[in-house]
Amino acid sequence: MKGLVLAGGSGTRLRPFTYSQPKHLLPVGGKAIIDYGIEALAAAGIRELGVVVGMETDGPLRQHLADGSRYGVDIDYVFQPQPRGLAHAVLCAEEYLAGEPFFLFLGDNLLQDPLGEMVREFIRTERGSVIALKEVPNPSDYGVAQLDEQGRVVRLVEKPAHPPSALAVVGAYAFGPEIMDACKRVRPSNRGELEITDAIQSLIDDGRPVLPHRLRGWWKDTGKAEHLLEANECVLDELRGMAEGETVDCQLSGAVHVAPGARLEKCVVHGPVVVAKGAHAQGSHLGPYVSLGPEAQVVDSRVLHSILMDGAQASQVGALTHSILGRRSRAVGKGSTRTVSLLLGDDGHVQFE
Ligand code: G1P
Repeated sequence: MKGLVLAGGSGTRLRPFTYSQPKHLLPVGGKAIIDYGIEALAAAGIRELGVVVGMETDGPLRQHLADGSRYGVDIDYVFQPQPRGLAHAVLCAEEYLAGEPFFLFLGDNLLQDPLGEMVREFIRTERGSVIALKEVPNPSDYGVAQLDEQGRVVRLVEKPAHPPSALAVVGAYAFGPEIMDACKRVRPSNRGELEITDAIQSLIDDGRPVLPHRLRGWWKDTGKAEHLLEANECVLDELRGMAEGETVDCQLSGAVHVAPGARLEKCVVHGPVVVAKGAHAQGSHLGPYVSLGPEAQVVDSRVLHSILMDGAQASQVGALTHSILGRRSRAVGKGSTRTVSLLLGDDGHVQFE
């Protein structure tokens, strides 16, 4: 079974961060979002992956994922010229998939459950598809599934105003080759996209079994900045173990990962916290739920529930909470005791007293 990872979208709801890099490469818990999906597919035994890229994501994703060898997979790239929907992305991959069954994974989704069980369920169903579902408080933001008394999927609707259930369609699907013809039959939706939800509905209309796979663990679709921070917390909650890098005069509690080549000095750190290589914190209070990217710097500040990307700096900030600092951005507090929440794009600079 091949894997198809969709990473063509431009992530407009994640501006300003996606002005300068694809959302799939934004870091949560010290790794790019897409790394979690690729690793989950590899762990489920899916080693041949097609990654669908678009105009904006093509170069950066190829550079990051390369040929896939560092994940133990073979990656080929499929180009989607315009972001015209998930079913359109599948159609772009027709030649790559060559009539084989495949696991479709949305590259901006993060889920706690391993994917192996879904793959096994798919192999057991004949001529069927398996879709992952998760109960959510806001089903109108997603595709929504309606099940019958036997628990089979009988209807799917994309972002319905009046959802028939609280079961959202998660970005993980196992399909046989028949989905290709179903995608060809789909017409543009109200938002002008070819929806995979409508393609699956057409399989149901043809009498093909579509089996639900209810997730037990958490699921995050990282569409907006607040989702990135939530995903960061979910991922960090699974962190175990203690510092490996250099810590001098620090008090550490909880899970704290300090990469070799990073340095913490005179800091109080409440895990979970990850500190990437080359990052440096001094005289600061870190955590909980902080990810410091490579070469990030924190000086005389308190930072909690936040992501600092590569080379970001926070200096003399009273308290920085629920914040995302883009690459090389700087937040300078001049000794302020205020608590601030910032979303600062790459190379942004904010100064306050
Ligand atoms: C897409 C799908 C939707 C699904 C969601 C999961 O929505 O169309 O059915 O619930 O992914 O992440 P989009 O992210 O394109 O709004």
